Amino acid sequence: MKYGYFDDAALEYVITTPKTPLPWINYLGNKEFFSLISNTCGGYTFYKDAKLLRLTRYRYNNVPYDNNGKYFFIKDGDTVWNPGWQPVKTALDSYECRHGLGYSTFTASKKDIQTRVLTFVPMEDNCEVSKVTITNNRSTDAEIQLFSYVEWCLWNADDDMKNFQRNLSTGEVEVTGGGSVIYHKTEYRERRNHYAIYGVNTAVDGFDTSRDAFLGAYNGPDSPDAVAAGACTNSIASGWSPIAAHQINVKLAAGESKTFIFTLGYIENPEDQKWEAPSVVNKKPAEAMLAKYQDEASVDKALEELKAYWKDLLSIYHVKSSNEKVDRMVNIWNQYQCMVTFNMSRSASYYESGIGRGMGFRDSCQDLLGFVHLIPDRARQRIIDIASTQFQDGSAYHQYQPLTKKGNSDIGSGFNDDPLWLIAGTNAYVRETGDVSILDEIVPFDNDMSVAQPLMEHLKRSFDYIVNHKGPHKLPLIGRADWNDCLNLNCHSTQPGESFQTFGPSEGPVAESVFIGGMFVKYGREYADLCKLQGKNDEAERALKEVAEMEKVLLSDAGWDGKWFVRAYDSYGNKVGGAECEEGQIYIEPQGFCVLAGVGKETGQAQKALDSVKAKLDTKYGVMILQPAYTVYHEELGEVSSYPPGYKENAGIFCHNNPWVSIAETVIGRGDRAFEVYKKTCPAYTEEISEIHRTEPYIYCQMVAGADAKFHGEGKNSWLTGTAAWTFVNISQYILGVYPTLKGLSVDPCVPADFGDFSVKRIYRGVEYDITVKQNGVQKGVKQLIVDGTEVEGTVIPYDASKKTVKVEVIMG
Ligand code: GLC
Ligand code: GLC
Repeated sequence: MKYGYFDDAALEYVITTPKTPLPWINYLGNKEFFSLISNTCGGYTFYKDAKLLRLTRYRYNNVPYDNNGKYFFIKDGDTVWNPGWQPVKTALDSYECRHGLGYSTFTASKKDIQTRVLTFVPMEDNCEVSKVTITNNRSTDAEIQLFSYVEWCLWNADDDMKNFQRNLSTGEVEVTGGGSVIYHKTEYRERRNHYAIYGVNTAVDGFDTSRDAFLGAYNGPDSPDAVAAGACTNSIASGWSPIAAHQINVKLAAGESKTFIFTLGYIENPEDQKWEAPSVVNKKPAEAMLAKYQDEASVDKALEELKAYWKDLLSIYHVKSSNEKVDRMVNIWNQYQCMVTFNMSRSASYYESGIGRGMGFRDSCQDLLGFVHLIPDRARQRIIDIASTQFQDGSAYHQYQPLTKKGNSDIGSGFNDDPLWLIAGTNAYVRETGDVSILDEIVPFDNDMSVAQPLMEHLKRSFDYIVNHKGPHKLPLIGRADWNDCLNLNCHSTQPGESFQTFGPSEGPVAESVFIGGMFVKYGREYADLCKLQGKNDEAERALKEVAEMEKVLLSDAGWDGKWFVRAYDSYGNKVGGAECEEGQIYIEPQGFCVLAGVGKETGQAQKALDSVKAKLDTKYGVMILQPAYTVYHEELGEVSSYPPGYKENAGIFCHNNPWVSIAETVIGRGDRAFEVYKKTCPAYTEEISEIHRTEPYIYCQMVAGADAKFHGEGKNSWLTGTAAWTFVNISQYILGVYPTLKGLSVDPCVPADFGDFSVKRIYRGVEYDITVKQNGVQKGVKQLIVDGTEVEGTVIPYDASKKTVKVEVIMG
């Protein structure tokens, strides 16, 4: 069952009922100012950091969920309704929400009054603009009222929901223009140099800044007293909960429309220019911002700029195939989600509260993989930021806060996969851009410039961290956990409340990870490639020798269980992920990652491992992370066994590593199976079962409940997941096969036999490649590569910066 449809020409998903199974959200903002907005106008806004600089309040864990947003109310006689249906939930005569790339629109009507709300964050300003158009479709005049409402957050979202003894006394506001512009200036008198504004481009008939005055102390936003009375109270908040609400009385002749523009903005003042008079904030920059969005034409222009920005970005990789769903995901939604995950890491979604994790080291490095082609300069800066939180021994802070860019010591280090992801991200950047200068960039360790070293030295220490931390089988030590945060082999926690990740020693001398071994082969080779690029041939040779040794261990009885790769060894030296285990006999991660690294390709173990994945882990909704699910808690394994069977890391379908399996299938040439795995978790395909899947049908979620779960097929934790980047890498670079190498673009597709011919337009290092592929019913193999009419050996198109466009014909066979 569907709750909407894709409008590919408009680059939008159209939601046709407010009653989606879960809130279906969108992200506004591309740089530093962001909003989350649901299909019923729920959500919140922040500047740079969802924890430290939150503008508006959102109540996670609320009943009903998705309650609090930036709301508009229409009062039409005795009827009160919202253009997004929530929070009043008056039945609407029509409703449509369109989520586009960085904007959303809500069109609704009730009793022949129609509203259209367009909301977006302009490219150049730290604000969210909402254009509200009201149309009277009656044959008679109409007199209605429009109210706006936002509830301010007192900046630090964590403190805001805990520290009431202080916070209920600190709230301060100012109002100008008779209430048209409301300034939220809590804590501005002391250490903050920023305030927020909510303004409208018209004189108002009333306003409120005190929540109790507007809603009534015992009401929620579903029944504001001021709206019911048809009159705001012009309240000036002092402490308690400051809000911003406007009241506009609107008269409309038959057929007439009126438009109002609301601006919710963030303003910073230099320390010496904070005040225009004692206790009066300097409003100049706010007035300048508001002045830019006074009329419809300037709002429309800003929207056009946003759309042009996206059109440009999406022209960098564009496929045309006979498969509409693939084209839709590749050309629009998958790349859009890659931008969002790059911007947010795992910080702010409807399932990540914005106050927990900031930027993850491993998460952000992986997010880069699907983003780097879009805006390489931002990826470059991100790599430097991430590397700056690395320690001198090559290990790394697991997370850092986006505002301060400093490592988070609460969680610390000891996740032994982290170092290798830095190589992955850097290599992807150099393959995309050819910019080797990044390797010479001087980067601090733990933000300490006095011990800074070139980035290349950071990569060496990443590599050597693994070399220097091996266990009894000569496999990498796992530390607190590897990619699977829940495989906590050194934790041994028995008391509720202890963190699975940080309890226990970070270094156990015994527990090992086969998965990190697979990563080491893949990214060790990529490290060696970069060494060669820098002319460090001895170092490259040393690295490749280490890689070869690791590969041997992986293929020996230490890493190979007979039919698949072992997952790990626990702190007693017992196998995790072997046929001898009662539960958790086979895990997906080492199968996917070892094979995508090419391990076992020659010996046939690669194929065997993937056949075992199909036989043991596959379901109609995707490939599960492990089987059989753990039914009891294993202290020696940690959080993985804490989840009920079928959920999350305990045998859920963890979407993130499905593309690893799909990529692995392309490595051994099985295009049919690679595509089958791709399709199972692909939103454009799961749209048809939205009543089962429940999360947004235009983007990936982190996890789908596995076969052991009561709600098999149900998605959870949408948006912020490494699935976005990995799936884009899979479909664009491995299945469609357009892969950037250090020397140039390679084209080597691996598609299902019935995929048909296709073409890809790819802008790469300033050159536009028009690639057409004649598939000839073949899953993998390039018979001929013709570049501008001349046949070329191999699959790599020699890079020639002097050309503007290059015509490439690929004949498979
Ligand atoms: C979450 C984390 C990610 C981890 C994964 C598996 O998605 O963000 O870092 O790799 O879970 O545990
Ligand atoms: C839990 C989750 C995992 C996530 C981690 C982040 O362990 O199961 O997915 O990566 O928390 O701290």
